[in-house]
Amino acid sequence: MPTIIAPSVLASDFGNLERDCKMINNSEADWFHIDIMDGVFVPNISFGMPVLAAIQKHAQKPLDVHLMIVDPDRYVETFHKLGAAILTVHYEACTHLHRSLQLIKSFGMKAGVALNPHTPVELLKDTIQAIDLVCIMSVNPGFGGQTFIEHTYEKIKELKELIEKTNSKCQIEIDGGVTDQNAAKLIQCGADVLVAGSHVFKAADPISTIKTLKNSH
Ligand code: DX5
Ligand code: ZN
Repeated sequence: MPTIIAPSVLASDFGNLERDCKMINNSEADWFHIDIMDGVFVPNISFGMPVLAAIQKHAQKPLDVHLMIVDPDRYVETFHKLGAAILTVHYEACTHLHRSLQLIKSFGMKAGVALNPHTPVELLKDTIQAIDLVCIMSVNPGFGGQTFIEHTYEKIKELKELIEKTNSKCQIEIDGGVTDQNAAKLIQCGADVLVAGSHVFKAADPISTIKTLKNSH
């Protein structure tokens, strides 16, 4: 299966959002990765619903929405209306994770769970069958442009093992510090989806940077 590439719009130029969305449309990228931060779950505020509506107007690929917010159930329906195809909540933000996953799926979206760097993969063993995508955070969530945490490779292998053991169909996404330097190793360990923010948008040629990520193996 070819790797799915999801550029993170957080690193785009918000003054040229339409241009940057069209760049993603015209590239080999597969999804738009959208980071929603509330200033409570993470020490930063990114953007909210009106900006996502503007992105949706121009995006011609699925929206992969990553909620870094407390009590995400409150906004599941809202993000469905805003066009999210995949809605990811944080393990650490959900008291009733299984219920949150069911709620997301009831709107026809794929349900994702993100794990902070300190959260062990084994905590998903009782919910893995209900999860469509696990997002392994390879930086502490809240900011783009941080350094990749090397322990991530180990977590991908553990998650891959859990998925195979339970015969589940969930995809493995890696988010934070992804570059052409670690993409191949991440894919070899079992990653299905690579999120990349600054590596793509700070590049002189974002389209060819996406192409290189897409063809890493
Ligand atoms: C971090 C976000 C990431 C971020 C990745 O909290 O979840 O999606 O945009 O940015 P880079 O690729 O620059 O680390
Ligand atoms: Zn993200």
